Amino acid sequence: MNNFILHTPTKVLFGKGQVAQLRGQIPADARILVTYGGGSVVRSGLLEQIRSELAGLTLFEFGGIEPNPTYETLMGAVELARAEKIDFLLAVGGGSVLDGTKFIAAAAHYDPAKDPWHILETVGGEVASAIPLGSVLTLPATGSEMNMGAVITRKSTGDKQHFFSPLVMPRFAVLDPVLTYTLPARQVANGVVDAFIHTLEQYLTYPVNAKVQDRFAEGLLLTLAEEGPKALVEPENYDVRANIMWSATLALNGLIGAGVPQDWATHMLGHEITALHGLDHAQTLAVVLPALLDAKREQKRAKLLQYAERVWDLRSGSEAELIDGAIKATRDFFERMGIKTRLRDYVADANIDTLLAKLEEHGMTALGEHGDIDLVQSRHIYEAAW
Ligand code: NZQ
Ligand code: ZN
Repeated sequence: MNNFILHTPTKVLFGKGQVAQLRGQIPADARILVTYGGGSVVRSGLLEQIRSELAGLTLFEFGGIEPNPTYETLMGAVELARAEKIDFLLAVGGGSVLDGTKFIAAAAHYDPAKDPWHILETVGGEVASAIPLGSVLTLPATGSEMNMGAVITRKSTGDKQHFFSPLVMPRFAVLDPVLTYTLPARQVANGVVDAFIHTLEQYLTYPVNAKVQDRFAEGLLLTLAEEGPKALVEPENYDVRANIMWSATLALNGLIGAGVPQDWATHMLGHEITALHGLDHAQTLAVVLPALLDAKREQKRAKLLQYAERVWDLRSGSEAELIDGAIKATRDFFERMGIKTRLRDYVADANIDTLLAKLEEHGMTALGEHGDIDLVQSRHIYEAAW
């Protein structure tokens, strides 16, 4: 096991009705900006409930944060936060609202002489201060509710980039599985597949004898594979929703990634596909991952065999057959969730040269746990993903 430092100070308020605890989490004299997306929280009544939980406090609202949140939209909230001297942000929604709110938090306090896009260009390295934020999650997927990452898109340039800062880690996360009952099937599937692949990015690398991390990861993978399909047919099954929600948080809150090598190439290749073609985040991952696992089967051999046996119960056949079986089982699982796994299922022309040019522009030329996925390999993976 490798050395690690793990610090996850987000307070989790998990379970039915936990929105009622909201008031106690926010300073009474705060000037609060509530952020939300395209309207799901208006339709579900959640926003109204939050207004009444926080009645009497100084509240402002900013709605309209879109999926794959854009710099262009978020800068409107940054201006509002600066003008109104906002000192607490409450993100209500899915990963896009949370990520967008993290950007608002960092950008509002950023050096006014600099364009806040600089935060993305420097991967958060120069963020020195941020507005504190909390979250009420409505879509289990990204883990953004308990981590320090955010992914922001700049529409005008076609860039989708990430930044990290411990200063934007949510102070608290309200996780009520009931709030996920209204999710459309496509977003249920996206969430389960995203969380599954977050787990694989930290698990399917090479062994460092980290037994606890491996077995936690396998527990998350087995839970998501078991419960994911059930959520599609029983949308109001509380236990199913609860298990998915907690799995998605634990898949990317630092726990299973501590002390182990990490990959993340599937994500980096996927972000370029979303930026260029507009696919949902999880769709891009479902397309890239099977192709990447096949391309890196030698480097990942030991963990692929462990994954085949412990997650998919594949025990007989040659090593090559077991690895093929594990990749196929993974692809079949995504398809069972309703997510297509070929790029050609989504676009008429992959435009691989443009994807590669953007990878290069973003410095993504040595990806994966060994840093050996260069642009030639990335081209091969995009071609195999077709
Ligand atoms: O905008 P509204 O109206 O709220 O609708 C949303 C949106 O259309 C809807 N939705 C959310 N909760 C709902 C609901 N509809 C009905 N009932 C509910 N309870 O779902 C749609 C998608 O929401 P979005 O927030 O975009 O989805 P997700 O949570 O999958 O977030 C995806 C974004 O997170 C980034 C992705 O790149 C993408 O931009 N990621 C962030 C990460 C992180 N911060 O650590 C890691 C991930 O790998 C990922 O890259
Ligand atoms: Zn993801």
